[in-house]
Amino acid sequence: MPSKKMNVVLLPGDGIGPEVMAEASRVLNWMIEHRGVPATVQEFQYGAEAYRLTGAVLPPATEKALQEADAILFGATGGPEFDAIPKVERRRGSLLHIRRTLELYANVRPIVTIPALYEASSLKNRVLQGVDMVIVRELIGGIYFGEPRGIETLPDGQRRGFNTQTYTSSEIRRVARFAFEQARLRKGRVCSVDKANVMESGVLWREEVQALRDAEFQDVELTHMYVDNCAMQIVRAPAQFDVLVTDNIFGDILSDCAAMACGSLGMLPSASLGPAREGGRRSAVYEPVHGSAPDIAGKGIANPLGAILSLAMALRLSLGRPSEADLLEGAVGAALDAGARTSDIREERLPVISCRQMGDAVLRELDRVEPRFEARAEART
Ligand code: IPM
Ligand code: MG
Repeated sequence: MPSKKMNVVLLPGDGIGPEVMAEASRVLNWMIEHRGVPATVQEFQYGAEAYRLTGAVLPPATEKALQEADAILFGATGGPEFDAIPKVERRRGSLLHIRRTLELYANVRPIVTIPALYEASSLKNRVLQGVDMVIVRELIGGIYFGEPRGIETLPDGQRRGFNTQTYTSSEIRRVARFAFEQARLRKGRVCSVDKANVMESGVLWREEVQALRDAEFQDVELTHMYVDNCAMQIVRAPAQFDVLVTDNIFGDILSDCAAMACGSLGMLPSASLGPAREGGRRSAVYEPVHGSAPDIAGKGIANPLGAILSLAMALRLSLGRPSEADLLEGAVGAALDAGARTSDIREERLPVISCRQMGDAVLRELDRVEPRFEARAEART
C-alpha cells in the first residue's frame, strides 16, 4: 500500500521570505521526484501581500490550512509594508498568534559550525571547532504573552510601558521535558538558562527543571547558568554546550548571538513544534531564523540556506525521512565546500552568487550525491 501523503503548506510571507522559499520549494520538489518523499505541497497567502489582496494578514483559508498541515514551511514576516497594516489586524495574523494557536511551545534552533564557513564567522577558528548545540526555546509563554501589558499615562503626564514575565510549572516542565528528550538523542547534557538571581520566574524555572530531571531524567546531566553568563559563554566557548533550554525572550536573544558561530544569521534553520496529538502528528512550523530583511528584499541576494536547512529539519522531524535530511545537509555542506557563497557569507577570492544560484548549487550537489547515496543505502541493507 502506498504510504499516506503528507500535507506540506508553504507560507512565503514578507520581505525575502518568497525568495528563500522558492529555493526551499525547488529542493522539496526534488525530494518528492527523486527520493519519493510522499508529500503534497500547497502554497498559501500570508502577510502584507495577503492583506493587500484580501484585507487579512492571515486569511481564513490559510488559517484552516495551517490547522490541517503535517508541516508548515514559513518564509518570513514583518517589514515596512507589514508595519503599515492596522495594529488589530497585524496582531490577529501575527506569527506570535500562529505560534500560540498551534501551541508551538518548543522552538528548536540547532547551531552547528561548518568548517567552510569559519572565515565568515566573527569568532576565531579554534573557538568554532566542534560546535554542535541545539537551543530549545520556550515559544508561547513568558514576557511575549504575559498580562498585564501596555503603555499607560501616569497622573504626572509621564508614560509608562510594562510587560509581564510569567511562567507556570507546567509550561516550564513541558519544554524542559522536550529538552531532556533531545539530550537523550545527543550527548546527554542539558544546560538550563535563567535569571534566578533576580527574577522569581527564574527561581521557579530552575526549581521545576531540576525537579523534572531528578524525577524522570537522571541519566541526563543538568547544569544551570544565568543568562548573562550564558551570553558570554556562547561567544567564549560555544563547544561546551549540547542542549540549551531557556525561556522565550532569553532564547530569542541567545539564538541570534549563537548564530554568529555559523557565519551568518542567514544560515540558521528552526523548527517550532506543538504537542503530539492523536496518531503522533504534531503541528510544526519550519522557518529560517533570519526574518524578512526588508533592506535586501526583492534583490535576489538573500541566503536561502536557512530555509533549505529548515526543510531538512522538516524531513527529519515531520516527514519521517531522516536519511533525506542527512542527504540534504550533506548537499548544503558540499555546495559550501565547493565555494558557493551568497553575500552574507562572502569571502575574498570567491564570487558572490545569488539566492537562485545558491539553490542551483544545492540541487547540483543533490544530483551528484544521490547515486552514491543510493549505493551506500543499498550496501547497508
Ligand atoms: C524570532 C524573531 C521573532 C521573535 C519576531 C519576528 C517576533 O525574532 O523568531 O526569533 O521575537 O520571536
Ligand atoms: Mg529573534
